[in-house]
Amino acid sequence: MESVADASRRISRISSHLLPPNIQMEGCGLRRENCRAKGAAPGFKVAVLGAAGGIGQPLAMLMKMNPLVSVLHLYDVVNSPGVTADISHMDTGAVVRGFLGQSQLEDALTGMDLVIIPAGVPRKPGMTRDDLFNINAGIVKTLCEGIAKCCPNAIVNLISNPVNSTVPIAAEVFKKAGTFDPKRLLGVTMLDVVRANTFVAEVLGLDPRDVDVPVVGGHAGVTILPLLSQVKPPCAFNAKEIDYLTNRIQNGGTEVVEAKAGAGSATLSMAYAAVKFADACLRGLRGDAGIIQCAFVASQVTELPFFASKVRLGRSGVEEVHPLGPLNEYERDGLEKAKKELEASIQKGVSFIRK
Ligand SMILES: NC(=O)c1ccc[n+]([C@@H]2O[C@H](COP(=O)([O-])OP(=O)(O)OC[C@H]3O[C@@H](n4cnc5c(N)ncnc54)[C@H](O)[C@@H]3O)[C@@H](O)[C@H]2O)c1
Repeated sequence: MESVADASRRISRISSHLLPPNIQMEGCGLRRENCRAKGAAPGFKVAVLGAAGGIGQPLAMLMKMNPLVSVLHLYDVVNSPGVTADISHMDTGAVVRGFLGQSQLEDALTGMDLVIIPAGVPRKPGMTRDDLFNINAGIVKTLCEGIAKCCPNAIVNLISNPVNSTVPIAAEVFKKAGTFDPKRLLGVTMLDVVRANTFVAEVLGLDPRDVDVPVVGGHAGVTILPLLSQVKPPCAFNAKEIDYLTNRIQNGGTEVVEAKAGAGSATLSMAYAAVKFADACLRGLRGDAGIIQCAFVASQVTELPFFASKVRLGRSGVEEVHPLGPLNEYERDGLEKAKKELEASIQKGVSFIRK
């Protein structure tokens, strides 16, 4: 006799074939059964907004490979049909559906458990993250209005820069809609952690997978504050190493922007970091214990309303925001500088919606 688990797996597989109709693919004249996976494993429904971009494409590909994902919605204002058709040929469990343009945003969002947002314009040489503010602020506002309407309980992973301002913007949009839950809104600072682990491992001569560097504060310049005194495994750096590492971690984004010389900012390492972070959120949603990552969230760790620090992820999103732990003098100085800049960026985001 069929077990309950087998039966529900079969039902979820069948219903994923039937619902919802893939409007975009049919609109392109492509036959649905030729351009999407046939099965649907039990798992979470994830949307990527900005899925055709430099980050969006590799991020979508890596999420298609994630066994915790059963349905993957790829939304963009351009090129999402091509990306969807391409990724849907991968023989992994997640069913992929594409959505193109504002008129399909609601379909893209309905029923999602996790929404990942890499939509927006990237930094060009000479631009600061704050230069991006006006364009990306408007994009994030529109997308978050859609989330408030169609999947108010979804966990949101916000990648669009400047994260120090876009997270407060998203919070204001959700507050206006009456759906704000600080546990479910997370600014993605994982790339700073990934870089910190890599650069510290280089200095220590270790495998980066064995290194854990907490990075707190925010996600721009001096607001990125690596806590080198709390590196695991425990180690001691001299003053020169601390300066070198702190500067390199804070300017890792600029290193890539300059090397790409006009062709955009970090995309591949960002997609990797975003997927590592999204996977942690999904494992938290599944109920796994002890899932701890750094993220920029609503916080009482400092006097600022948002701050990045280690958080424990669980079934309801951010279940605990960890304090900063003991800081040395260098880090205390860095914290003061970070807070000053962060305060202005947060205020800029809040004012964008309240103006
Ligand atoms: N958090 C981080 O650590 C981090 C790191 C790198 C880049 N970023 C940011 O991520 C964002 C994307 O970078 P990218 O290199 O992928 O840029 P990109 O220009 O290659 O891609 C952005 C995508 O967003 C889409 N888009 C624009 N407006 C949209 C809208 N209204 N709805 C949906 N999609 C829309 C574009 O069509 C494009 O496909 C930028 O803001 C960048 O600064 C963040």
